[in-house]
Amino acid sequence: MNNWLLYGAYGYTGRLIIEEAVQRGHKPVLAGRNKDKLIPLAKLYDLGWLELGLDDGDKLATAVAPFDLVFHAAGPFTITSDPMLRACLAGKTHYVDITGEIGVFENTFHYDEAARQNNLVFISGVGFDVVPSDCLANYVADKLPDATELELAIAALGSASAGTTNTMLELLPTLKKGSVVRRNGRYQSHSIGQDAKQVTFSNGRTRTVTPLPWGDLATAYRSTGIPNITTYMILPVSPTMARFFRLYRPLLAIKPVRRLAQTIVARNVTGPDETARQTGRSYLYARATNQRGTAVEAWLETMEGYQLTAVAGVRAVEKILNGETTAGTLTPAQAFGVDFVLEIEGTKRFDKLPKIIS
Ligand SMILES: NC(=O)c1ccc[n+]([C@@H]2O[C@H](COP(=O)([O-])OP(=O)(O)OC[C@H]3O[C@@H](n4cnc5c(N)ncnc54)[C@H](OP(=O)(O)O)[C@@H]3O)[C@@H](O)[C@H]2O)c1
Repeated sequence: MNNWLLYGAYGYTGRLIIEEAVQRGHKPVLAGRNKDKLIPLAKLYDLGWLELGLDDGDKLATAVAPFDLVFHAAGPFTITSDPMLRACLAGKTHYVDITGEIGVFENTFHYDEAARQNNLVFISGVGFDVVPSDCLANYVADKLPDATELELAIAALGSASAGTTNTMLELLPTLKKGSVVRRNGRYQSHSIGQDAKQVTFSNGRTRTVTPLPWGDLATAYRSTGIPNITTYMILPVSPTMARFFRLYRPLLAIKPVRRLAQTIVARNVTGPDETARQTGRSYLYARATNQRGTAVEAWLETMEGYQLTAVAGVRAVEKILNGETTAGTLTPAQAFGVDFVLEIEGTKRFDKLPKIIS
């Protein structure tokens, strides 16, 4: 149970994962490319450490081979994931990550056959993106097996970490119109801010949400097979700011400009503090509809997103190392079932909007 490597250990989310892992009796080896950041952490938690870059594939494969599992927490995963997947395949090591990037999910799916042949489990997205939404999507899809449309809305209030912001900066230039949806099984560009709608969440609050990309455009298609998927979120900026982003987004396609923006973010963005993580709540809504217009809805509320990422991620590690899942590339709900999210403290799922007693 203790023979696993945490890569990206000294990042904001990596540290939360260490806390959760240690509390549950694990002793992961801490890894990353900078030993000066690893050593103090390893000393603090009395854990082993390993300085390891992602550039040399053979070296990486040799380094991960002695471990049963790699928990990859270093993003942007568009840059970091594939070298680690290759190394895990070569080293016969299970792999989980906390990506939310659609292209990364799709890339991990390509390893399905190879993972199965080697009796390995590869799971992308064992964090807030996509554990709760994948579980909720499959919950409504299981109740309506002929569903052709899936809508998922996510209200996760609170600030983002530097890593999340920088991952978004990496993603933005790839989105032609600022957003994307899935139609007839294919990704379709979608103008940012268009098709906003009102959703009432289980805390009784009605919020305006708008189609924005979330990992489920890849994972829910994979796990439910529903061909039309829209993921909605509260637009994190005002409509004026959205127009500003649309105008200046092409600049982010220029690598030096993007790197400069990412350096500024890394220096200035800190992520939610302890109080925000302990008190924050996240709300989700799912609706599956079939061609006759029959709909099934469900609501979920759970803990703050970064805290959930650490809690769900460590539970995923435990389940894989306990042999509770089949081999292959899986989504979290495929691997652990639709009720996996309910194992996370304080999570509630509703078939009807609960009555709010004020
Ligand atoms: N799925 C979810 O719900 C969820 C939740 C939380 C975070 N995330 C994602 O997880 C990632 C990390 O987030 P964070 O908040 O922890 O960010 P962070 O504090 O900026 O940490 C990023 C970590 O990744 C490492 N890293 C970045 N590029 C690397 C590379 N090319 N090679 C090796 N290591 C590299 C960094 O090491 P250096 O300092 O050496 O660069 C650092 O350890 C982001 O992509 C974020 O979007 C997802």
